[in-house]
Amino acid sequence: MDYDIKDINLAEKGRLRIEWAGMSMAVLKSISERFSKEKPLKGLRLSACLHVTTETAALVKTLKAGGADVVVCASNPLSTQDDVAASLVADDEVPVFAIKGENHETYYSHILSALRHEPHLTMDDGADLVSSLHFIALKKWDDLEPTVREWARNLPEEERNRFLSNVIGGTEETTTGVIRLRSMERDGVLQFPVISVNDANTKHLFDNRYGTGQSTVDGIIRATNRLLAGAAFVVSGYGWCGRGVAIRAKGHGANVIVCEVDPLRALEAAMDGFQVMPIAQAAPLGDFFCTLTGDINVIRAEHFLVMKDGAIISNSGHFDVELDLKGLSESSANRRPIREFVEEFTLKNGRSVYLLGEGRLINLAAAEGHPSSVMDMSFANQALSAEYMAREHATLTKKVYPVPFEIDQEIARVKLKSMGIEIDTLTEEQERYLSSWEMGT
Ligand code: ADE
Repeated sequence: MDYDIKDINLAEKGRLRIEWAGMSMAVLKSISERFSKEKPLKGLRLSACLHVTTETAALVKTLKAGGADVVVCASNPLSTQDDVAASLVADDEVPVFAIKGENHETYYSHILSALRHEPHLTMDDGADLVSSLHFIALKKWDDLEPTVREWARNLPEEERNRFLSNVIGGTEETTTGVIRLRSMERDGVLQFPVISVNDANTKHLFDNRYGTGQSTVDGIIRATNRLLAGAAFVVSGYGWCGRGVAIRAKGHGANVIVCEVDPLRALEAAMDGFQVMPIAQAAPLGDFFCTLTGDINVIRAEHFLVMKDGAIISNSGHFDVELDLKGLSESSANRRPIREFVEEFTLKNGRSVYLLGEGRLINLAAAEGHPSSVMDMSFANQALSAEYMAREHATLTKKVYPVPFEIDQEIARVKLKSMGIEIDTLTEEQERYLSSWEMGT
């Protein structure tokens, strides 16, 4: 079996941590039990480009229980948990291509390894797998990473086409990936249907908000061991992820400042009780900065240069593009690592600012990603969407589809049950009232 991981001897540690995560993943467990009996993914090859974490291991086991032939590659160079990768290889015989800290070239060679599996189903977190597949199939050589480009160009046309012709559909985990897929659909290049897991309510309302909220603050604290109470904490972006970070930073006693470009979100942030202002005004005030916008160069050289001495800068958006790292480097006279996941930049004005986790998503770089209890719902959506795609792909076209409403509702129901929470049901009289327009007071 071909694989590329850091150290197979880490498997025992990974196995125990995967077991621990599984204890908070009741929805996925129930799906796994049904999949073992029904085998809805039997005969399907599935390539998953995901953060290789304990929670992802639980998903991979579920997909295998459903009969899928799974390979896994990393969806970010810094998010892999090497012990989990080792356990998946040693205990589950899953080919894994992921090493924490891998460079750009290795990252793409790992994606390539997952593509060589010739998947029927793709599972992405950020759309790097699907976009690489499209670049190869559509011969968009200039958009490919050089290693992949060389290899793909030398491939016989027939083999290249097979990459695409095998695929019946895919699923996408995250906001950034869905934005990329929607622009592929808009430009008419998307070649197969993809389900946007991110749009499910049981995904973004919990994973993006409470998952990102807790794990981002966790990452910042683990990296710095600094106190948030009384500090000024600047959150750029007030989508579901930004909302989550803002509320958790506030819970730690920080004074939260929100920067936004969308007037509605800015208004919401203001009425949620946060200060709202442009980044140019927030830059000299913040002790901590965290970007979660999905866009590029949100904090730039002109902002770094007016920051307080000692300001701590981080990103929790999917790609490492939100902080202008080139601008930071060019504004600096000196840089040095000062502790794990913290790099000191001494600016040309003599002040120092501290960059966390190379500007990569800090919740997975310095902490362990979202807690298993929320990933339970995200990955239940993934597993059930893969099953739906396997069953329904012939009825779907080359578009981005939402997770079916019934799946979303069912996940909420099972999650509540696993938490021991019961809820009310409408009486017949209440149902009649809600469905009739004639009844007034
Ligand atoms: N994305 C954010 N947190 C994650 C986790 N724990 N596992 C997989 N993907 C994630």
